[in-house]
Amino acid sequence: MAWLLLFHLLALLLVPNSLAQAQQPLGCQTTCGEVNIPYPFGIGQRCALSKKFELNCTRNQNGTYKPFFSNVEVVNISLFPSQARIKHHMSWQCYNKTAKNVSYDHRSLNLTRTPFRFSSTKNKFTAIGAQTLPYFYLQNGNNIWYRTGCVSACLSMQGLVNGSCSGIGCCQTAIPLGMNYYTVRFDANFNNSAVSSFNPCSFAVLIEADSFNFSTAYITTTDFWDDNNGKVPIVVDWAIGNETCMVAQHNKTSYACVSSNSSCVDSTNGPGYFCSCKQGYEGNPYLLGGCKD
Ligand SMILES: *[C@@H]1O[C@H](CO)[C@@H](O)[C@H](O)[C@H]1NC(C)=O
Ligand SMILES: *[C@@H]1O[C@H](CO)[C@@H](O)[C@H](O)[C@H]1NC(C)=O
Ligand SMILES: *[C@@H]1O[C@H](CO)[C@@H](O)[C@H](O)[C@H]1NC(C)=O
Ligand SMILES: *[C@@H]1O[C@H](CO)[C@@H](O)[C@H](O)[C@H]1NC(C)=O
Ligand SMILES: *[C@@H]1O[C@H](CO)[C@@H](O)[C@H](O)[C@H]1NC(C)=O
Ligand SMILES: *[C@@H]1O[C@H](CO)[C@@H](O)[C@H](O)[C@H]1NC(C)=O
Ligand SMILES: *[C@@H]1O[C@H](CO)[C@@H](O)[C@H](O)[C@H]1NC(C)=O
Ligand SMILES: *[C@@H]1O[C@H](CO)[C@@H](O)[C@H](O)[C@H]1NC(C)=O
Ligand SMILES: *[C@@H]1O[C@H](CO)[C@@H](O)[C@H](O)[C@H]1NC(C)=O
Ligand SMILES: *[C@@H]1O[C@H](CO)[C@@H](O)[C@H](O)[C@H]1NC(C)=O
Ligand SMILES: *[C@@H]1O[C@H](CO)[C@@H](O)[C@H](O)[C@H]1NC(C)=O
Ligand SMILES: *[C@@H]1O[C@H](CO)[C@@H](O)[C@H](O)[C@H]1NC(C)=O
Repeated sequence: MAWLLLFHLLALLLVPNSLAQAQQPLGCQTTCGEVNIPYPFGIGQRCALSKKFELNCTRNQNGTYKPFFSNVEVVNISLFPSQARIKHHMSWQCYNKTAKNVSYDHRSLNLTRTPFRFSSTKNKFTAIGAQTLPYFYLQNGNNIWYRTGCVSACLSMQGLVNGSCSGIGCCQTAIPLGMNYYTVRFDANFNNSAVSSFNPCSFAVLIEADSFNFSTAYITTTDFWDDNNGKVPIVVDWAIGNETCMVAQHNKTSYACVSSNSSCVDSTNGPGYFCSCKQGYEGNPYLLGGCKD
């Protein structure tokens, strides 16, 4: 009798434990500052599905908190669509009239071996300047390099139109699918020396297209940098692992779509999959009982 009771107690203790592998443990922070942190993401290794979904919640000097993935600021996470919004540094080139030379800040973003790839539909490589040719070097998960770029030029402020980015003072170009690394290089022959009387600096960014609205003031001032504190939003798609749903479903230990009434969707932007709740259900498909009627 006592044996049986002990057995039952053990079973009761063990069941939640074995499920914990596929479940966020109790006591995990679900927000950091203003940002919701839904599982599979988590603050600290204990609370995330794996190290790849681990975030930092860092305290700012003014007492507010912001989440970071490695050293990249995360401003928004969405489960469906499986996307996040991050912030990254602008690249720039400026002509120094006193020293008569050009200064550069060439930025890179390396999301290799993370769940993130740049959204090819939501972002545009964007350059601002009266004489600039930034090249954008991109790499995908198979370490294949791509190069793109755009020329932005104008002889004066005449013809520049607010809200229009079509090669005159501002240019944009789309990026391919599957990219998780980029770096910027300004062509040194297209610098601001000849146009510095009205355009001191050029800028180049990968940026969420909907968050960008060209202003003619971006040519004559450093407003673009100042208004954004030198950082702009980028939309990233994220996925679990590097397998298709068909393959991932075979391993019940690692398969992430654990909620009943959830389904698996193959990523269309690079390898891996993500989970969604079946039609008529809402919630978090990565948690047991997460999809609710
Ligand atoms: C607090 O500081 C961070 C950067 O350190 C800034 O992004 C944020 O807007 C500030 N929040 C307030 C309420 O001032
Ligand atoms: C935590 O955030 C800091 C920046 O605030 C960063 O340098 C560090 O790599 C982060 N650690 C992890 C594990 O994300
Ligand atoms: C995150 O994105 C959602 C949907 O786009 C939006 O409703 C929400 O306000 C965003 N939150 C923040 C902190 O940007
Ligand atoms: C321009 O160069 C001069 C001389 O080297 C330097 O003193 C000054 O700080 C530079 N200005 C800027 C904005 O970098
Ligand atoms: C520009 O010239 C100044 C003065 O000659 C020098 O101190 C500075 O390092 C130069 N900057 C660049 C980016 O070459
Ligand atoms: C990106 O980071 C990974 C390590 O996470 C490194 O192996 C790789 O060389 C980096 N890629 C580039 C182009 O620097
Ligand atoms: C564009 O808008 C800015 C304010 O955002 C204004 O200062 C500027 O005069 C406008 N330019 C044109 C050509 O209307
Ligand atoms: C862009 O800004 C201009 C004013 O500079 C405004 O008229 C226009 O509606 C804005 N466009 C978008 C899409 O926000
Ligand atoms: C700027 O570009 C011009 C060609 O357009 C070149 O002759 C000049 O050397 C460049 N200046 C600097 C400081 O790189
Ligand atoms: C897929 O991910 C696993 C585990 O992270 C790794 O060992 C393997 O090399 C990856 N395969 C490919 C093709 O990237
Ligand atoms: C299933 O996934 C677990 C956890 O990632 C791993 O340890 C195990 O080797 C996998 N089993 C098979 C058959 O691939
Ligand atoms: C949702 O899950 C419940 C419990 O597993 C099951 O009885 C029901 O048939 C499911 N509904 C759909 C639409 O799959």
